[in-house]
Amino acid sequence: MYITDKSVTEYINSKYKPASDKLIPFRRVGEHDRVPVILKETESVLSMLTGLTHPKRIFEIGTAIGYSAAFFAYSCPDAVIYTVEKDENAYRAAVSNIRNAGVDDRVKLFLGDGQEVADKLFDEGEKDFDFIFIDAAKSHYRRFLDSAVKIASDEALIVSDNILQHGMTANEDYDPRNKHKTNMINMRSYLNHLMRDSHFNTTLMSVGDGLAVTRYRRYI
Ligand SMILES: C[S@@+](CC[C@H](N)C(=O)[O-])C[C@H]1O[C@@H](n2cnc3c(N)ncnc32)[C@H](O)[C@@H]1O
Repeated sequence: MYITDKSVTEYINSKYKPASDKLIPFRRVGEHDRVPVILKETESVLSMLTGLTHPKRIFEIGTAIGYSAAFFAYSCPDAVIYTVEKDENAYRAAVSNIRNAGVDDRVKLFLGDGQEVADKLFDEGEKDFDFIFIDAAKSHYRRFLDSAVKIASDEALIVSDNILQHGMTANEDYDPRNKHKTNMINMRSYLNHLMRDSHFNTTLMSVGDGLAVTRYRRYI
């Protein structure tokens, strides 16, 4: 389902330009295998944000087959990317895809839960991630965030994807059979936290499936 007018989305997507031509066949594989890789319009906003902020250390939760990690590697040639995937098959596919994409020297893949890996990295003294991308289990964003900020730089940019969940975060009518009520409640609570806690300055965007773009400030 589209959360904005379909023809408008199609028009915007007709202007899409990938960060690298090498992403074109990669996206095709994702779409063919029905892997929910970042939407074109989401990629375009991420591209603008990375272009403005020039991150050096990117932490991603939700690798899937590695498309967005490869995107970050191509669009941020000076950055290292740490990315976490829970599903073993997806992780294995990502390892191979990242190698084939020729960016395995800068993309570090982890198999496990996003929060647990962030906590482990913190214990190991890893820090200063200046761009954090959360794109995994929608009900768990709050715990991902709480652990990710521990390894974030003092003024990191945090982008959370799929916050509108096909519209249902905003309007229950998008979930007529109440199948996703827990996801909806948890996402609303997550967004309330991002909007109310003064360490975060957040804007909510109806791009793709909804994006929250957050400027984190450790010291206020
Ligand atoms: C929307 S896909 C990620 C797409 C990817 N960012 C891209 O654009 O190419 C979400 C992924 O998060 C993974 N995932 C779900 N729960 C997770 C968790 N607790 N920790 C890490 N990854 C998780 C899923 O297995 C799935 O592959």
